[in-house]
Amino acid sequence: MSGALRDMPVEELTGLDVVVELADLAREIAEHDLAYHQKDAPKINDAEYDALKLRNSAIEAKFPNQIRADSPSKRVGAPVAGGFSKVTHAQPMLSLSNVFNESDYREFIEGVRRFLKELADDPSLPLEMVSEPKIDGLSISLRYEKGIFVQGATRGDGAMGEDVTTNVRTLKNFNETLPSDVPDVLEVRGEVYMSKKDFMALNTAQEAAGKKVFANPRNAAAGSLRQLDSIITARRPLSFFAYALGQVSTPISDTHWGILKRLKDWGFPVNAETKLCPDIATVLAFYDRLNEGRAGLGYDVDGIVYKVNRLDYQERLGFVSRAPRWSIAHKFPAEKATTIINTIDIQVGRTGSLTPVARLEPVTVGGVVVSNATLHNEDEIARKDVRVGDTVIIQRAGDVIPQVLKVVMDKRSSASQTYQFPHTCPECGSRAVQEEGEVRRRCTGGLFCPAQAVERLKHFVSRNAFDIEGIGGKHIESFIREGLIKTPADIFRLEDHVEAISNKEGWGGKSVENLIASINDKRAIPLERFIYSLGISQVGQATARLLAKQYGSLGAWRGAMAAAKVSGSAAFGDLTNIDGIGPSVAKDLIEFFHEEHNRDVIDDLEEQLTIKDFTTPDILASPLAGKTMVFTGSMETMSRGEAKAKAESLGAKVAGSVSRKTDYVVIGADAGSKARKAEELGVRTLSEPEWLDMAGA
Ligand code: IVH
Repeated sequence: MSGALRDMPVEELTGLDVVVELADLAREIAEHDLAYHQKDAPKINDAEYDALKLRNSAIEAKFPNQIRADSPSKRVGAPVAGGFSKVTHAQPMLSLSNVFNESDYREFIEGVRRFLKELADDPSLPLEMVSEPKIDGLSISLRYEKGIFVQGATRGDGAMGEDVTTNVRTLKNFNETLPSDVPDVLEVRGEVYMSKKDFMALNTAQEAAGKKVFANPRNAAAGSLRQLDSIITARRPLSFFAYALGQVSTPISDTHWGILKRLKDWGFPVNAETKLCPDIATVLAFYDRLNEGRAGLGYDVDGIVYKVNRLDYQERLGFVSRAPRWSIAHKFPAEKATTIINTIDIQVGRTGSLTPVARLEPVTVGGVVVSNATLHNEDEIARKDVRVGDTVIIQRAGDVIPQVLKVVMDKRSSASQTYQFPHTCPECGSRAVQEEGEVRRRCTGGLFCPAQAVERLKHFVSRNAFDIEGIGGKHIESFIREGLIKTPADIFRLEDHVEAISNKEGWGGKSVENLIASINDKRAIPLERFIYSLGISQVGQATARLLAKQYGSLGAWRGAMAAAKVSGSAAFGDLTNIDGIGPSVAKDLIEFFHEEHNRDVIDDLEEQLTIKDFTTPDILASPLAGKTMVFTGSMETMSRGEAKAKAESLGAKVAGSVSRKTDYVVIGADAGSKARKAEELGVRTLSEPEWLDMAGA
C-alpha cells in the first residue's frame, strides 16, 4: 500500500481511504500472522507488527461501520477478564463408545444391521462406513451465520460448553468467512489439536523459559485453547480437522461422506486419511494400516472412528444416552518402544516428595521423541528391578508421560548393579525418609530445601501463620528467583534489600515501605503461631496449639523434641501422651528436629524474632491451671469433647493416658483400665460431680 495513505492522520482519512486501508491492513496483518504462527518466520519485528495493529484499531475506532468481518482486531482479542462465558449448544455435542478389538467391532456392526431390520433380513444390502482417524485433541463447535463466523465453543459437558470464539480465530487453518453457497446457519464440528512437531517446539520453548511443559499434544492443545488471554493462544500453534456438523438450517448432503466433501470444498481441513469403506474387511484393513503407520502421522491419533455413511440410517439409529448408535471408536493399543536408561534422576517436589525419573537414550514413541520416563517411586523401581544401563520397554499411554513398562532382562549387562534409592535429598542434602504407608520418600529439610522453598515460605507468611500483609505467593516466587530470600528468616532481612525491591516492576517506594512495616509488625509472635508457621508435616493449627500449651516456651519445646528422639524416653512418652498427638505426628516432629538444617533455620529465626510464651487468659486463678487431667468413662452431663474443652479453658492439659505426672483422673460410668491405673499410681481421682464442682460448671 502507498506510504502516503499509511502516514495520513486517522482524522484526515475519507470514506474511500478507510475502506482501502482497512482492507490492506487486514491482508498485511494476516500475512504476518501466517509468517509468525505457521511458518515461524516473521518478516517484521514485534514493534512494527504492533504498529500495524494499532493503526487498524485507531481507524476502526473512528469508523466503526467499516469494520470488516475478517478484521485483524477480531482475530486476536484482548485478554478476557474472569472465566469464559457459557454457551448452550444448539445440538448436543456427543461422545463415542469404544471398542478395543475386531470381534467387538463386528458385534457393533451386527447390532446396527439388526436395528435397521431390512439389513438384517437381507445380508446382501451394503452398510457403508466412513473411517476416520480419531484425532487426540479436543472437540470444538464453530458456528457460522450467513457465512460469517460468529461463535466457537468447547464441548464442555456436551450440553453446554465454553465460549472460546476469540481463541478459535487464532487456529492455523481457520476461516472467518465462507463461500456464498453455505446454509444460513452452519455449525461445523471437529477436533482442535497440536501437531507433534509444534508440540515438541512448544515444550522446548516452555522449558527454556522455565515454564510448565505439557505431558502430551492433547494437553498442550487443551491448555492453549482454554487460555483466557487469547494472545497466548495465538502464540500456540493449534490446528483443526472438521469431521461433523451441528445445527444446519438446510441439509447439505444425504451422506457423511458427502458432508465431508462439501466441508472440504468450503475450505475446512478434512483429514486426508479418511476413507469410505464398503464392508467390514475394508474397515479392518484401514484400522491395521493406520495403526501401523500412526507414528509417521504428524499428529497423535488414538484410534479410528467409524460412522454409518447414510444420514437416513443415522437418523433412524439415533442415540443411546450420550453416544450415537451409528458411530463407534476403535481404540489403538498404547504405543511402545525400546531404549536404554542412561541415568536415574531424583526430582524433589514442592512438598518434598522424591520422584525418580529415568533419563533415556532418546527414542521415538508414536512419532514423539521421548527422553524421560517416570519411574513413579522407590518401590516401583525395586519391584521391576530397574537399573541404570538397562534396556527397557517404555509406553506412551495417551494422557500420561511415558512409563517404564519393564526391563529387557536378556540385554542386562553382567556388571549392572541394583539401583540404590538415595536416602538424602539431592537438592539440599537433608535426610529423606519413607514413612510407613507412604509410597514416596520425603525430604526432611523442609525449611531449608530449595525445592520446597516456595511452598514453605508461602505457608510461613500465610494468614494463620505469620500473616504478613502485602506479600503473596507471586512475591515469594520472585524474591526467591532473584536470590533475595531462601529461608524464612530472610524475610525479616528484606529490609536490607529495599533498593533492589524498589527497582522491581510493580513496587513503588510506598509499597516497599508498607511491606517492610508489615514485616516488622510481626517480629513478635505467639508460640503456637510460630510452631504452625514452620510447616512441619501433620502439624496444623490445632496440633501447634497443643504443643504450645504443653511446652509453654520455644526453648522448652525444642528441648523436649530433641529429647524425644530417644524412643522409650520420658520425653517421647510426654509427647505421645498429649491427647490429639499420636505416634505418627510425634515421628514427624522428631524427624523435623533431627535435621540440623531445620534447627539452624529456627536459630536464625530466633535471632530475628521474639517468640512469646504460651498464655491462656484468666486461667491463673483456676485450681486446674497447669494441671494434667485424664477423662475416662462416660459422663452424664457433658460429652468428653466438652469436658476436655472446659478443662483446657481453665488452663489444664488433657492427656490420653494416666501416668505419674497426671494430677487428676475424672472417672465416669463404665471406666476401665485408666481408673485402675490411677489407683495403682495413687493419682487423685474425681467423680463427675467433683469435677463439675471444680470446674465451676
Ligand atoms: S465424532 C457424534 N470423529 O473423540 C460423534 N470424534 O471419544 C461425535 N474425536 O468427543 C464425535 N476424532 O473429541 C468424531 N474423527 C472423529 C474424531 C472424534 C477425534 C474425538 C472427539 C470426541 C471424542 C469421543
